[in-house]
Amino acid sequence: MNSIAERYRRFARVEAAGRSPLYETLAKHVAGTQHALTFLSRLPRDRQQPNLLFAALRHVCGTPMSITEFDEALGEHAQAIAEVMVTRTTQTNEPGRCAAFLPSLCQMQGPLALIEVGASAGLCLLPDAYGYDWERQQLAPPSQFGAIAPVFHCHASENAPLPLQHPEIVWRAGLDLNPLDLSNHEDVAWLENLIWPEHHERFARLRAAVQVARKNRPRVVAGDLRQDLSGLIAEAPSDATVVVFHTAVLSYIADQNDRDAFARSMIDTGVVWLSNESPGVFPEFAEKAGPIRENMFLLNINGQPVAWTGPHGQELQWL
Ligand SMILES: C[S@@+](CC[C@H](N)C(=O)[O-])C[C@H]1O[C@@H](n2cnc3c(N)ncnc32)[C@H](O)[C@@H]1O
Repeated sequence: MNSIAERYRRFARVEAAGRSPLYETLAKHVAGTQHALTFLSRLPRDRQQPNLLFAALRHVCGTPMSITEFDEALGEHAQAIAEVMVTRTTQTNEPGRCAAFLPSLCQMQGPLALIEVGASAGLCLLPDAYGYDWERQQLAPPSQFGAIAPVFHCHASENAPLPLQHPEIVWRAGLDLNPLDLSNHEDVAWLENLIWPEHHERFARLRAAVQVARKNRPRVVAGDLRQDLSGLIAEAPSDATVVVFHTAVLSYIADQNDRDAFARSMIDTGVVWLSNESPGVFPEFAEKAGPIRENMFLLNINGQPVAWTGPHGQELQWL
Protein backbone atom coordinates (compact mmCIF):
# COMPACT_ATOMS: atom_id res chain seq x y z
CA MET A 1 0.00 0.00 0.00
CA ASN A 2 2.99 2.25 0.51
CA SER A 3 3.74 2.16 -3.18
CA ILE A 4 0.15 3.13 -4.04
CA ALA A 5 0.31 6.03 -1.60
CA GLU A 6 3.62 7.12 -3.10
CA ARG A 7 2.17 6.92 -6.60
CA TYR A 8 -0.69 9.26 -5.58
CA ARG A 9 1.68 11.66 -3.81
CA ARG A 10 3.86 11.76 -6.91
CA PHE A 11 0.81 12.32 -9.14
CA ALA A 12 -0.24 15.25 -6.92
CA ARG A 13 3.24 16.76 -6.99
CA VAL A 14 4.34 16.14 -10.59
CA GLU A 15 1.20 15.85 -12.68
CA ALA A 16 -1.68 17.65 -10.98
CA ALA A 17 0.11 20.58 -9.30
CA GLY A 18 -0.53 23.72 -11.31
CA ARG A 19 -2.92 21.90 -13.65
CA SER A 20 -5.76 20.64 -11.48
CA PRO A 21 -6.13 21.91 -7.91
CA LEU A 22 -8.98 19.43 -7.38
CA TYR A 23 -6.99 16.37 -8.50
CA GLU A 24 -3.96 17.58 -6.53
CA THR A 25 -6.07 17.78 -3.37
CA LEU A 26 -7.79 14.45 -4.00
CA ALA A 27 -4.55 12.63 -4.82
CA LYS A 28 -2.88 13.85 -1.61
CA HIS A 29 -6.00 12.84 0.29
CA VAL A 30 -6.01 9.32 -1.22
CA ALA A 31 -2.32 8.91 -0.33
CA GLY A 32 -3.12 9.50 3.33
CA THR A 33 -6.48 7.70 3.62
CA GLN A 34 -6.65 4.06 4.64
CA HIS A 35 -10.04 3.18 3.14
CA ALA A 36 -9.09 4.62 -0.27
CA LEU A 37 -5.75 2.76 -0.26
CA THR A 38 -7.47 -0.49 0.72
CA PHE A 39 -9.98 -0.01 -2.12
CA LEU A 40 -7.12 0.48 -4.61
CA SER A 41 -5.04 -2.42 -3.27
CA ARG A 42 -7.88 -4.83 -4.18
CA LEU A 43 -7.68 -3.82 -7.85
CA PRO A 44 -5.15 -5.25 -10.32
CA ARG A 45 -1.90 -3.28 -10.21
CA ASP A 46 -2.41 -1.84 -13.69
CA ARG A 47 -5.81 -0.48 -12.62
CA GLN A 48 -4.71 1.62 -9.67
CA GLN A 49 -3.79 4.84 -11.51
CA PRO A 50 -5.01 8.21 -10.19
CA ASN A 51 -6.44 9.25 -13.57
CA LEU A 52 -8.47 6.07 -13.78
CA LEU A 53 -9.80 6.34 -10.22
CA PHE A 54 -10.85 9.98 -10.56
CA ALA A 55 -12.44 9.52 -14.00
CA ALA A 56 -14.30 6.39 -12.82
CA LEU A 57 -15.58 8.09 -9.70
CA ARG A 58 -16.81 11.06 -11.76
CA HIS A 59 -18.34 8.67 -14.28
CA VAL A 60 -20.38 6.97 -11.58
CA CYS A 61 -21.13 9.84 -9.17
CA GLY A 62 -20.29 13.16 -10.87
CA THR A 63 -17.39 15.41 -9.92
CA PRO A 64 -16.76 15.58 -6.16
CA MET A 65 -16.22 19.18 -5.11
CA SER A 66 -14.50 18.37 -1.82
CA ILE A 67 -12.71 15.61 0.06
CA THR A 68 -15.93 14.90 1.97
CA GLU A 69 -17.88 14.39 -1.27
CA PHE A 70 -15.06 12.17 -2.57
CA ASP A 71 -15.15 10.00 0.58
CA GLU A 72 -18.95 9.72 0.44
CA ALA A 73 -18.90 8.74 -3.24
CA LEU A 74 -16.18 6.11 -2.76
CA GLY A 75 -17.89 4.77 0.39
CA GLU A 76 -21.33 4.43 -1.21
CA HIS A 77 -20.39 3.40 -4.76
CA ALA A 78 -17.15 1.44 -4.32
CA GLN A 79 -18.34 -1.55 -6.33
CA ALA A 80 -19.64 0.45 -9.28
CA ILE A 81 -16.43 2.53 -9.35
CA ALA A 82 -14.27 -0.61 -9.22
CA GLU A 83 -16.25 -2.11 -12.12
CA VAL A 84 -15.54 0.95 -14.25
CA MET A 85 -11.86 0.79 -13.28
CA VAL A 86 -11.48 -2.80 -14.40
CA THR A 87 -13.51 -2.51 -17.59
CA ARG A 88 -12.30 0.86 -18.90
CA THR A 89 -8.86 2.36 -19.52
CA THR A 90 -7.52 5.89 -19.86
CA GLN A 91 -8.36 6.46 -23.51
CA THR A 92 -8.29 10.25 -23.49
CA ASN A 93 -8.92 11.42 -27.05
CA GLU A 94 -7.40 14.88 -27.46
CA PRO A 95 -8.18 16.32 -30.91
CA GLY A 96 -6.19 19.46 -30.02
CA ARG A 97 -3.06 17.40 -30.76
CA CYS A 98 -3.89 17.87 -34.46
CA ALA A 99 -2.59 21.46 -34.15
CA ALA A 100 0.87 20.06 -33.42
CA PHE A 101 1.11 17.56 -36.27
CA LEU A 102 -1.03 19.14 -39.02
CA PRO A 103 1.88 21.34 -40.25
CA SER A 104 3.92 18.16 -40.80
CA LEU A 105 1.11 16.49 -42.73
CA CYS A 106 0.94 19.56 -44.95
CA GLN A 107 4.60 19.18 -45.86
CA MET A 108 4.00 15.68 -47.26
CA GLN A 109 3.20 14.95 -50.87
CA GLY A 110 -0.59 14.59 -51.12
CA PRO A 111 -3.11 13.14 -51.42
CA LEU A 112 -2.75 11.39 -48.07
CA ALA A 113 -4.08 8.12 -46.68
CA LEU A 114 -4.06 8.49 -42.90
CA ILE A 115 -3.80 5.61 -40.45
CA GLU A 116 -3.83 6.32 -36.73
CA VAL A 117 -2.78 3.59 -34.30
CA GLY A 118 -4.17 3.97 -30.78
CA ALA A 119 -6.97 6.13 -32.17
CA SER A 120 -9.43 5.84 -29.23
CA ALA A 121 -12.63 7.29 -30.78
CA GLY A 122 -10.78 8.57 -33.85
CA LEU A 123 -11.03 12.33 -33.23
CA CYS A 124 -7.40 12.91 -34.30
CA LEU A 125 -8.19 11.27 -37.64
CA LEU A 126 -10.02 14.43 -38.74
CA PRO A 127 -7.27 17.08 -38.80
CA ASP A 128 -8.73 18.45 -42.06
CA ALA A 129 -12.10 19.15 -40.40
CA TYR A 130 -10.94 21.49 -37.62
CA GLY A 131 -9.80 25.10 -37.40
CA TYR A 132 -6.41 26.25 -36.06
CA ASP A 133 -5.07 29.34 -34.40
CA TRP A 134 -1.27 29.30 -34.28
CA GLU A 135 -1.31 32.96 -33.15
CA ARG A 136 0.65 34.40 -36.05
CA GLN A 137 -1.43 32.40 -38.53
CA GLN A 138 -4.94 30.97 -38.58
CA LEU A 139 -6.62 28.27 -40.62
CA ALA A 140 -10.42 28.35 -40.61
CA PRO A 141 -12.35 25.07 -40.50
CA PRO A 142 -13.72 23.94 -43.86
CA SER A 143 -17.11 25.49 -44.63
CA GLN A 144 -19.10 22.25 -44.15
CA PHE A 145 -18.01 22.11 -40.50
CA GLY A 146 -17.51 25.84 -39.92
CA ALA A 147 -20.45 26.30 -37.56
CA ILE A 148 -19.61 23.40 -35.26
CA ALA A 149 -15.89 22.68 -35.63
CA PRO A 150 -13.51 23.50 -32.79
CA VAL A 151 -10.62 25.88 -33.41
CA PHE A 152 -7.46 24.69 -31.68
CA HIS A 153 -5.14 27.27 -30.21
CA CYS A 154 -1.44 26.40 -30.38
CA HIS A 155 1.55 28.58 -29.59
CA ALA A 156 3.91 27.95 -32.51
CA SER A 157 7.57 28.96 -32.67
CA GLU A 158 8.66 31.48 -35.32
CA ASN A 159 10.36 28.79 -37.43
CA ALA A 160 7.38 26.40 -37.54
CA PRO A 161 6.17 25.89 -41.13
CA LEU A 162 2.50 26.79 -40.75
CA PRO A 163 0.13 25.78 -43.55
CA LEU A 164 -2.31 28.06 -45.36
CA GLN A 165 -4.65 25.21 -46.21
CA HIS A 166 -5.68 21.78 -44.95
CA PRO A 167 -4.01 18.69 -46.41
CA GLU A 168 -5.93 16.57 -48.90
CA ILE A 169 -6.85 13.35 -47.06
CA VAL A 170 -8.54 10.88 -49.37
CA TRP A 171 -8.70 7.85 -47.06
CA ARG A 172 -8.40 7.33 -43.31
CA ALA A 173 -8.68 4.56 -40.75
CA GLY A 174 -7.81 4.00 -37.11
CA LEU A 175 -6.74 1.00 -35.05
CA ASP A 176 -7.27 0.65 -31.32
CA LEU A 177 -7.33 -2.16 -28.75
CA ASN A 178 -10.77 -0.83 -27.77
CA PRO A 179 -12.29 1.64 -30.22
CA LEU A 180 -14.73 4.01 -28.51
CA ASP A 181 -18.06 4.47 -30.25
CA LEU A 182 -19.22 8.07 -30.62
CA SER A 183 -22.85 6.98 -30.97
CA ASN A 184 -22.66 5.31 -27.55
CA HIS A 185 -23.62 7.72 -24.76
CA GLU A 186 -21.51 5.86 -22.15
CA ASP A 187 -18.39 5.96 -24.33
CA VAL A 188 -18.75 9.70 -24.93
CA ALA A 189 -19.41 10.31 -21.22
CA TRP A 190 -16.22 8.35 -20.47
CA LEU A 191 -14.21 10.57 -22.86
CA GLU A 192 -15.66 13.63 -21.12
CA ASN A 193 -14.83 12.31 -17.65
CA LEU A 194 -11.24 11.69 -18.67
CA ILE A 195 -10.75 15.43 -19.11
CA TRP A 196 -9.55 16.98 -15.88
CA PRO A 197 -12.27 19.01 -14.16
CA GLU A 198 -10.75 22.49 -14.51
CA HIS A 199 -9.92 22.04 -18.22
CA HIS A 200 -13.09 23.71 -19.49
CA GLU A 201 -11.66 24.69 -22.86
CA ARG A 202 -10.55 21.13 -23.62
CA PHE A 203 -13.99 19.89 -22.56
CA ALA A 204 -15.77 22.32 -24.92
CA ARG A 205 -13.57 21.43 -27.86
CA LEU A 206 -13.97 17.70 -27.21
CA ARG A 207 -17.75 18.18 -27.44
CA ALA A 208 -17.34 20.17 -30.65
CA ALA A 209 -15.01 17.56 -32.17
CA VAL A 210 -17.50 14.81 -31.29
CA GLN A 211 -20.17 16.76 -33.20
CA VAL A 212 -17.89 16.98 -36.23
CA ALA A 213 -17.00 13.28 -36.02
CA ARG A 214 -20.66 12.29 -35.82
CA LYS A 215 -21.16 13.98 -39.21
CA ASN A 216 -18.01 12.48 -40.70
CA ARG A 217 -17.48 9.25 -38.77
CA PRO A 218 -13.86 8.02 -38.88
CA ARG A 219 -13.52 4.24 -39.11
CA VAL A 220 -11.62 2.78 -36.15
CA VAL A 221 -11.13 -0.97 -36.13
CA ALA A 222 -10.27 -3.15 -33.14
CA GLY A 223 -6.73 -4.48 -33.09
CA ASP A 224 -3.26 -4.29 -31.63
CA LEU A 225 -0.73 -2.00 -33.29
CA ARG A 226 1.92 -4.71 -32.80
CA GLN A 227 0.07 -7.28 -34.92
CA ASP A 228 -2.79 -5.81 -36.89
CA LEU A 229 -1.43 -2.81 -38.72
CA SER A 230 -0.26 -4.43 -41.94
CA GLY A 231 -3.85 -5.28 -42.97
CA LEU A 232 -4.87 -1.62 -42.75
CA ILE A 233 -1.80 -0.44 -44.64
CA ALA A 234 -2.65 -2.92 -47.40
CA GLU A 235 -6.16 -1.42 -47.64
CA ALA A 236 -4.93 2.12 -48.24
CA PRO A 237 -5.19 3.41 -51.84
CA SER A 238 -1.94 2.87 -53.71
CA ASP A 239 -1.96 6.34 -55.32
CA ALA A 240 -1.90 8.16 -51.96
CA THR A 241 0.97 8.77 -49.54
CA VAL A 242 0.31 6.45 -46.61
CA VAL A 243 0.97 8.13 -43.26
CA VAL A 244 0.88 6.04 -40.09
CA PHE A 245 0.75 8.20 -36.98
CA HIS A 246 0.23 7.96 -33.24
CA THR A 247 0.04 10.41 -30.38
CA ALA A 248 0.18 9.49 -26.68
CA VAL A 249 0.00 5.75 -27.38
CA LEU A 250 3.39 4.04 -27.33
CA SER A 251 3.86 4.59 -23.60
CA TYR A 252 1.08 1.99 -23.21
CA ILE A 253 3.51 -0.55 -24.68
CA ALA A 254 5.53 -1.26 -21.55
CA ASP A 255 8.37 -3.28 -23.08
CA GLN A 256 11.03 -1.16 -24.83
CA ASN A 257 11.84 -4.12 -27.10
CA ASP A 258 8.25 -4.07 -28.39
CA ARG A 259 8.43 -0.31 -29.01
CA ASP A 260 11.72 -0.69 -30.86
CA ALA A 261 10.35 -3.58 -32.92
CA PHE A 262 7.37 -1.38 -33.87
CA ALA A 263 9.76 1.46 -34.83
CA ARG A 264 11.83 -0.89 -37.01
CA SER A 265 8.71 -2.24 -38.71
CA MET A 266 7.57 1.30 -39.46
CA ILE A 267 10.88 2.24 -41.04
CA ASP A 268 10.89 -1.02 -43.04
CA THR A 269 7.33 -0.69 -44.42
CA GLY A 270 8.18 2.42 -46.41
CA VAL A 271 5.12 4.38 -45.22
CA VAL A 272 5.60 7.82 -43.71
CA TRP A 273 5.69 7.32 -39.94
CA LEU A 274 4.78 10.20 -37.65
CA SER A 275 5.22 9.73 -33.91
CA ASN A 276 4.10 12.31 -31.31
CA GLU A 277 5.05 10.83 -27.97
CA SER A 278 6.84 11.50 -24.75
CA PRO A 279 10.61 11.52 -25.54
CA GLY A 280 11.24 8.56 -23.21
CA VAL A 281 9.27 6.31 -25.59
CA PHE A 282 12.04 6.27 -28.20
CA PRO A 283 15.24 7.35 -26.37
CA GLU A 284 17.31 6.58 -29.46
CA PHE A 285 15.45 9.25 -31.49
CA ALA A 286 15.19 11.69 -28.57
CA GLU A 287 19.00 11.78 -28.30
CA LYS A 288 19.07 13.53 -31.66
CA ALA A 289 16.75 16.30 -30.44
CA GLY A 290 19.08 17.89 -27.89
CA PRO A 291 18.20 18.51 -24.24
CA ILE A 292 14.91 16.95 -23.15
CA ARG A 293 12.11 19.50 -22.74
CA GLU A 294 10.19 18.89 -19.51
CA ASN A 295 6.53 17.86 -20.01
CA MET A 296 6.70 18.01 -23.80
CA PHE A 297 6.16 15.40 -26.50
CA LEU A 298 8.63 14.85 -29.30
CA LEU A 299 7.37 14.80 -32.88
CA ASN A 300 9.41 12.45 -35.08
CA ILE A 301 9.03 11.76 -38.78
CA ASN A 302 10.55 8.43 -39.79
CA GLY A 303 12.61 8.53 -36.59
CA GLN A 304 13.94 12.07 -37.16
CA PRO A 305 12.90 14.63 -34.51
CA VAL A 306 11.20 17.69 -36.03
CA ALA A 307 9.53 19.47 -33.09
CA TRP A 308 8.73 19.52 -29.40
CA THR A 309 4.97 19.67 -28.89
CA GLY A 310 2.67 20.42 -25.96
CA PRO A 311 1.06 17.17 -24.78
CA HIS A 312 -2.41 18.54 -25.60
CA GLY A 313 -1.28 20.22 -28.81
CA GLN A 314 -1.05 23.61 -27.13
CA GLU A 315 2.52 24.23 -28.25
CA LEU A 316 4.71 23.59 -31.31
CA GLN A 317 8.44 24.28 -30.94
CA TRP A 318 10.00 23.49 -34.30
CA LEU A 319 13.59 22.25 -34.10
C1 LIG B 1 -4.21 8.15 -24.42
S1 LIG B 1 -5.11 7.40 -25.70
C2 LIG B 1 -4.65 8.45 -27.04
C3 LIG B 1 -5.72 8.52 -28.11
C4 LIG B 1 -5.37 9.38 -29.31
N1 LIG B 1 -4.19 8.92 -29.98
C5 LIG B 1 -5.21 10.83 -28.94
O1 LIG B 1 -4.07 11.32 -28.96
O2 LIG B 1 -6.20 11.49 -28.66
C6 LIG B 1 -4.20 5.90 -26.03
C7 LIG B 1 -4.97 4.91 -26.89
O3 LIG B 1 -4.06 3.90 -27.31
C8 LIG B 1 -4.74 2.67 -27.32
N2 LIG B 1 -3.76 1.59 -27.27
C9 LIG B 1 -2.91 1.27 -26.26
N3 LIG B 1 -2.17 0.20 -26.58
C10 LIG B 1 -2.52 -0.17 -27.83
C11 LIG B 1 -2.11 -1.21 -28.71
N4 LIG B 1 -1.18 -2.11 -28.36
N5 LIG B 1 -2.69 -1.30 -29.93
C12 LIG B 1 -3.66 -0.42 -30.30
N6 LIG B 1 -4.10 0.58 -29.49
C13 LIG B 1 -3.53 0.72 -28.28
C14 LIG B 1 -5.64 2.75 -26.10
O4 LIG B 1 -6.71 1.83 -26.19
C15 LIG B 1 -6.10 4.21 -26.16
O5 LIG B 1 -7.30 4.36 -26.87
